Amino acid sequence: MTASEQERVAGLVFGFFPAQVVQTLARLGVPDALGEGALGLDALAARTGSRPGPLARLLRAAIGLDLVTPADDGYALTDGGQLLRTGTPGSMGNLAQLFCGDAVWRAWGELEWSVRTGEPSFEKLTGHSSFAHFAADPALNAIFTEAMAEGTRRAAPGIVAACDLTGVGTLADVGGGNGTLLAAFLDAHPELHGILFDTPSGATDLVVDQRCEVVTGDFFGTVPAADAYVVKSVIHDWDDERSVAILARIREAMPPHGVVLVVEPVFVDEPAALAGQRTLLMSDLNMLTCTGGKERTEEEFTALLSAAGLRLVGVTPAAGSGYSVLRAVPA
Ligand SMILES: C[S@@+](CC[C@H](N)C(=O)[O-])C[C@H]1O[C@@H](n2cnc3c(N)ncnc32)[C@H](O)[C@@H]1O
Repeated sequence: MTASEQERVAGLVFGFFPAQVVQTLARLGVPDALGEGALGLDALAARTGSRPGPLARLLRAAIGLDLVTPADDGYALTDGGQLLRTGTPGSMGNLAQLFCGDAVWRAWGELEWSVRTGEPSFEKLTGHSSFAHFAADPALNAIFTEAMAEGTRRAAPGIVAACDLTGVGTLADVGGGNGTLLAAFLDAHPELHGILFDTPSGATDLVVDQRCEVVTGDFFGTVPAADAYVVKSVIHDWDDERSVAILARIREAMPPHGVVLVVEPVFVDEPAALAGQRTLLMSDLNMLTCTGGKERTEEEFTALLSAAGLRLVGVTPAAGSGYSVLRAVPA
């Protein structure tokens, strides 16, 4: 056993400590309080409702993690720390609060239970599915909605460029959240009309206005008719049976010339490829604990689509995003 190997494993053992430093900074509102300026310790403690002594220790750790830097007898944000502010370009503040926050954090603490049972620990702990849990708490729902939008905003240019919408008049985004991806499609295609479809709590804090109809409902019931459908980060939330049901509802609603664009990471389940897919491996376990879904290989997506009466006709990586666009047509 080499010292560097011990260091690597120690990094895994203690890996959750920095995540809680990030989450606590975000929850206390330190990044928003600092903004583009600097504050002294007492002012920052007053702004964040913290005690100066322990706050200084948290900030010292944040300096060590290159999120905060000493400045003008106080503290300022580094470039990385700027990403934890809310409402700024490239922000990841809501992602930090959601994925390191109470419900997801506790669900990961029960990963062992999910591995033993195959059930999402999130539901055991909260008594609800994750979507019902978020829907019941407006503050948490706002964090969830904006966290999804933060991730999608970064990926949208690559996804839009990877989707051929030739001949498409109306594009429906199924499970489209606040419309961040649909807005990017509408910006890129001035003739396109959009339909944003989500639950009433999902279609909230909307960022679409012009050329877009908002329809609320349940994608296990019926979905609106459209020439093309984009379904991003939805199928991985569900087990195979429910994923097929969503795709089958789309298949039933679409015209013969219709197309479905499933946007998900495509997992390469080969031992030699795993080290290069760490984010996806963790996302797969996040689905196990939080939603009961999973990340999938191209073969697995092909089987789901086929069971829903659809045929995969192409897989296009969306540059710079980690996602691929799986294009399917009626079988
Ligand atoms: C992981 S989020 C993805 C949001 C968005 N597509 C994105 O990538 O940013 C999953 C979305 O599915 C929606 N959803 C969950 N259950 C639904 C249902 N039964 N009917 C319609 N939408 C649903 C959620 O409200 C949420 O907006």
